Amino acid sequence: MAVTTSVHGMWTTRLAFILAATGSAVGLGNIWKFPYIAGENGGGAFVLVYILCVSMIGIPIMMAEILVGRRGRQSPINTMRTLAYEEGRHGFWQLVGWGGVIAGFLIISYYSVIAGWAIAYTFRALGGTFTSLTGETATDLFNALLGDPERLLAWHTIFMVMTIIVISRGVRSGLEQAVRVLMPLLFVLLLVLVGYALTSGRFMDGIEFLFVPDFGALSAGAVITAMGHAFFTLSLGMGAIMMYGSYLPASASIARSSLIIALMDTMVALLAGMAIFPIVFANGLEPEAGPGLVFLTLPIAFGNMPGGLLFGTLFFVLLVFAAWTSAISLIEPAVAWLVENQGIERVRAAVYVGIVAWLLGIVTIMSFSDWAFTFDFAGEAKTGGVFDLLDILTANFMLPLGGLAMALFAGWFMSRESTRDELAMGQGLTYRLWRVMIRYIAPLAVVLVFFNAIGLM
Ligand code: PHE
Repeated sequence: MAVTTSVHGMWTTRLAFILAATGSAVGLGNIWKFPYIAGENGGGAFVLVYILCVSMIGIPIMMAEILVGRRGRQSPINTMRTLAYEEGRHGFWQLVGWGGVIAGFLIISYYSVIAGWAIAYTFRALGGTFTSLTGETATDLFNALLGDPERLLAWHTIFMVMTIIVISRGVRSGLEQAVRVLMPLLFVLLLVLVGYALTSGRFMDGIEFLFVPDFGALSAGAVITAMGHAFFTLSLGMGAIMMYGSYLPASASIARSSLIIALMDTMVALLAGMAIFPIVFANGLEPEAGPGLVFLTLPIAFGNMPGGLLFGTLFFVLLVFAAWTSAISLIEPAVAWLVENQGIERVRAAVYVGIVAWLLGIVTIMSFSDWAFTFDFAGEAKTGGVFDLLDILTANFMLPLGGLAMALFAGWFMSRESTRDELAMGQGLTYRLWRVMIRYIAPLAVVLVFFNAIGLM
C-alpha cells in the first residue's frame, strides 16, 4: 500500500514541489549546455529533435518517475526495491536506483566545475572586466580561466561546499523560497539579453540558425545528443525527480506538474539560445565554439549594453543559483540512501558524498589543460578529454538507459491499478494516452535512437 509520508520530510504544497523540481531542471543544462550543443550540432534540426524528445519521451517518463517516487517515498534505490516487491517483481529493479546514484556522482563532478566558471564570471562581471569586450578578447579571457587549474579548483571547491551546506540541512529549507524569487528574475534577465540580441544586427540569423531545420546537418550523433539532453535538462533517468516526487503530497496532480516543469525548462533553454546566437554571428564567433560558448558570448553583450555591469553580475549570480538548485538534486538520492540504509546522520552523509564528488571533479579540471585529449564520437572530434567522455557517458547513455528502465517498470511491471491510482486521472483518455506513451512510444524511441547511434539503422 502507498506510504503517505517520507522520513526525509515533505513539500508543503504542490507549488513547492513544482518550484523545487523546476529548480532541479533549470540549470547549466539550459543556459550553458543547450546552446553549445545546439551550436555544435547544426542548430534547427537538432533543436526540433530535442523538443520532440522532451514532449514524447521526457514528459511521460517524468510522470512515471514522479509516480514511482511518490508511491515508494524513499531514496530511488529503496523505492525501486520496495515497489518491485509490492508488484511481485524481482528485487534487481533496485539497480535502476544504483545506476542513478552513480550517474549523479559522475554528473556532479563536472557540473560543479562548470558552475565554478559561472562563479568566476560573476566576479569578472562585477569587476568591469567585460567593458568593450570583442569576440577575440572574450576568447582570451575564457582561455585564461581554463588554463588555470588552481583557480578552477578553488571555485569548484566553493561550489561543492555551497551544495553540501544546503543538502546537509535537508532540501526543503530555503529551496522553495529561493526558486520562487530567482526563477522569475532569471526569466527577466534572459528577456533583457534577448532584447540586446535584437539590437545586434544579426538577430534573424540567430533565430534562423535555431529554428529553421536543415535535416542534412543532422547526424546520428546529433540525434542521440538531442535525446540525451532531453533527459539531462529535465533531470530524468537518475532518480532526482523520483526523489523529489517522494516528498510530494498524495493529492497533487502529477500530469499537470510535469507539463509545467517541462514547459518552463524548455522556455529557459530557447530564450538562452535566442540571446546567444545573434551575438555569435554579430561578433565573428563560431556556433561550434563548444563548452565555452555562453562564456564567450554573453560577456560581450554585458560589456556593450547600458547597465551591463549590473545586468552581467546579476545574470551570473542567477546562473550560479540555477546550477546550485540542480546540483542539490544530483546528490540528494545518494545522501537519502546513506541516511536510510547506513543510519548515517544527514550532515555526515552530505559531507561524505560531497568529498567523493569533489575528488572526481579534479579529473574534469585537469581535462581542460594537462590531461586534455581528443577522441571521436559518432564521427565528430571531441577535444574535451575526460570531461567530454563523462558528459557523453552520462547524458547520452546512462540517463536514457535509466529512463528506459523506469518507463518499462511503470508501463509493464507495475499493475494498471497502481499507476492509475497514483496518477489519479481516472479511466479517461489522458491516462490511456500516458499508458501508450510509457509502454510503447517512449521505450521504442529510446531504443531506436540507440540503434541509430551505434549504426544498426
Ligand atoms: N537538469 C539539470 C540542468 O539542466 C541537470 C541535472 C541532471 C540535474 C540530472 C539533476 C539530474 O542543468
